[in-house]
Amino acid sequence: GAPVEVDLAGLAPGEMRTVEWRGKPVWILKRSEEMVNSLKQTDAQVADPNSERNPDELTPEYARNEYRSIKPDILVAVGICTHLGCSPVTRFATGAQPSLPDDWHGGFLCPCHGSTFDLAGRVYKNKPAPDNLEVPRHMYLSDSKLIIG
Ligand code: FES
Repeated sequence: GAPVEVDLAGLAPGEMRTVEWRGKPVWILKRSEEMVNSLKQTDAQVADPNSERNPDELTPEYARNEYRSIKPDILVAVGICTHLGCSPVTRFATGAQPSLPDDWHGGFLCPCHGSTFDLAGRVYKNKPAPDNLEVPRHMYLSDSKLIIG
């Protein structure tokens, strides 16, 4: 499939856009400062905080950091659950909510079997999904132009 170019101008903090790449949904989330800071708090709650599992398939070298991204505020991830391929939904509100871990800092919930992911797409411990969400190959052409693929 051809690479997909995305214009990030106008994407506000806390806003997410979904584009299609190779038939897959790819999320582009502009994390607010609070969202970026939440990743430190979820470090201890996720199964693979440093993205060490299947790095060649799931996490390009430039995203093997605490943000899983090139820029701390921009997450680029494939919106397909690593368990059996359902589409996780956003749960950006923080705090106690049904079906979410206690002490929820915002992230994604897979409606099929309840896997949860933080705002870097890192899977929470003891959830059926074995891996973090895939970060596709991507790069920036300029401050606001992103190319996926
Ligand atoms: Fe997502 Fe099973 S497909 S938890």
